[in-house]
Amino acid sequence: MAKLVAFYSRADENYFGGTKRYIKVGNTEKIAEMIADVTGADFFKIEQKIPYAADYDTCIEQAKKDLQGNVRPELLNNLESIDKYDDIYIGFPNYWSTMPMAVFTFLEQFDWTGKNIYPFVTHEGSSFGRSERDLKKICKGANIRKGLSVQGSMADNAKATVTSWVKTDC
Ligand SMILES: Cc1cc2nc3c(=O)[nH]c(=O)nc-3n(C[C@H](O)[C@H](O)[C@H](O)COP(=O)(O)O)c2cc1C
Repeated sequence: MAKLVAFYSRADENYFGGTKRYIKVGNTEKIAEMIADVTGADFFKIEQKIPYAADYDTCIEQAKKDLQGNVRPELLNNLESIDKYDDIYIGFPNYWSTMPMAVFTFLEQFDWTGKNIYPFVTHEGSSFGRSERDLKKICKGANIRKGLSVQGSMADNAKATVTSWVKTDC
């Protein structure tokens, strides 16, 4: 059974428990790498053709505007199909209580019937927010399984948690 990790993640300036700092690899990407390492899944990064700003405060406003406008940002790269995958790990940062709008763009193009979806999120306090509900609305017919939530600033230390989730819940 082929597996896929598809995720959105942003490097650059981010917020870590009261301080802003620049990072080279985003928090969700770190978790995605751990999942791929444990499962051997294929790896796909969902990227916007026009990325949000490196500056955190500007990014926050851009993402809010896209959410309020229900925008579907164009993707930089795409997968032609998900037909060969049975198990799909879908990862994203919590943006304004849901998924970044580019994840909506990605998800809405496929037929999810019969797929097993394992959601994972990184966040700074609100865990999945309403993202799992939004995911269920889009991915009709999929079996959405127990998700993994990791505080973004703890991503570097999450390997044991990720491994245990994959072995126990996936
Ligand atoms: C635009 C934006 C909106 C965010 N909204 C929330 C939120 O509503 N709740 C929350 O807990 N964290 C929120 N965060 C924090 C991110 O979810 C968290 O830092 C995450 O780990 C970033 O992942 P990444 O490095 O993979 O992009 C937000 C961050 C950004 C940039």
